[in-house]
Amino acid sequence: MEIVLSGIRPTGNLHLGNYFGAVKNFIKMQEENKCFFFIADYHSLTTHPTPADLHGNVKQVLVEYLATGLDPEKSTIYIQSDLPEIAELYLILNMNAYMGELERVTTFKEKARKQPENVNAGLLTYPSLMAADIIIHKASKVPVGKDQEQHLEMTRTFARRFNRMYKEDFFPIPTAYNFGEELVKVPGLDGSGKMGKSEGEGNAVFLADDPTTIRKKVMRALTDAGPTEPNQQKPDYIDNLFSLMKLVSSPDAVAFFHEQYNKCAIRYGDMKKQLAEDIIVFTEPVRQRIIELSNNPEYLSKVARMGAEKAHESARKTIGEVREIIGFRAF
Ligand code: ADP
Ligand code: TRP
Repeated sequence: MEIVLSGIRPTGNLHLGNYFGAVKNFIKMQEENKCFFFIADYHSLTTHPTPADLHGNVKQVLVEYLATGLDPEKSTIYIQSDLPEIAELYLILNMNAYMGELERVTTFKEKARKQPENVNAGLLTYPSLMAADIIIHKASKVPVGKDQEQHLEMTRTFARRFNRMYKEDFFPIPTAYNFGEELVKVPGLDGSGKMGKSEGEGNAVFLADDPTTIRKKVMRALTDAGPTEPNQQKPDYIDNLFSLMKLVSSPDAVAFFHEQYNKCAIRYGDMKKQLAEDIIVFTEPVRQRIIELSNNPEYLSKVARMGAEKAHESARKTIGEVREIIGFRAF
């Protein structure tokens, strides 16, 4: 059984893009592997959140992941800052992380450009913290998107460097978890390529959106007067609606609107109504669970405690061995 680990940034609510692009795979992954899922709240400090926001965001993410089906009995679900061992390993890795290589990381360069007033050391050393997250449990597989590939490569560099330096085959060298199929890219509602929380208003449908909000967002999606010739190629924004439909609607419904399109008889209003209702059928049970879990602090606290305990066990073992290896030995 592989040890698989994924970190989740506590930023904003989950949308359909996050669900179909990531969370759905996590739910499947936890059936076949020893999975660790953690909420990366140490990482959040690079953007200086207020204590109330930080706490609220961590709770929101925990609630939404549990609501979608991450199972605290099957997986180890924990909050990063509950494991000070991660901070210790981060410190140790930083001693062998070089300014030059850290400064060359794309995400760092981007952040430095975007927030020149806050280019802190935490941003620079983000890759060593992420490496600590991964190797503290000796994870071998990490599900990452394109934007995280370079960070994973840095993790390999740091793990190999440690092994070489202490002449031990200690840390496994982690690689990307392969879902075995093409990753889906969920398009947004505003005609832009991708559903995302930082895209325009109304682009994303959140799992916590109520039916009225979903209907409003979908009905506002960009369409046009319709095709003028049979079997005409679809413009991107129409293709996007079909892609969304394929995720939530029945194959029959998709085929029906497809045919209507090809016959130049499509009524986009009807198609969007159908799409909105099918999204609602899909999201409504999740939204109900989100509400229930939000109002159940005892359960959340139990999940966090249980996760921290399990994660601790594995982290404590690794850090104990690391201390011995590097020469922090008891007298
Ligand atoms: P956002 O783009 O809203 O900021 P994140 O960057 O926090 O979302 O993404 C978290 C996870 O969800 C990543 O694994 C990412 O690949 C996945 N994801 C986000 N948006 C989409 C999308 N539109 N289609 C597919 N996967 C997505
Ligand atoms: N950097 C990841 C992101 O931005 C979050 C993350 C932190 C992570 N530590 C990790 C992901 C360890 C995988 C493994 O999405």
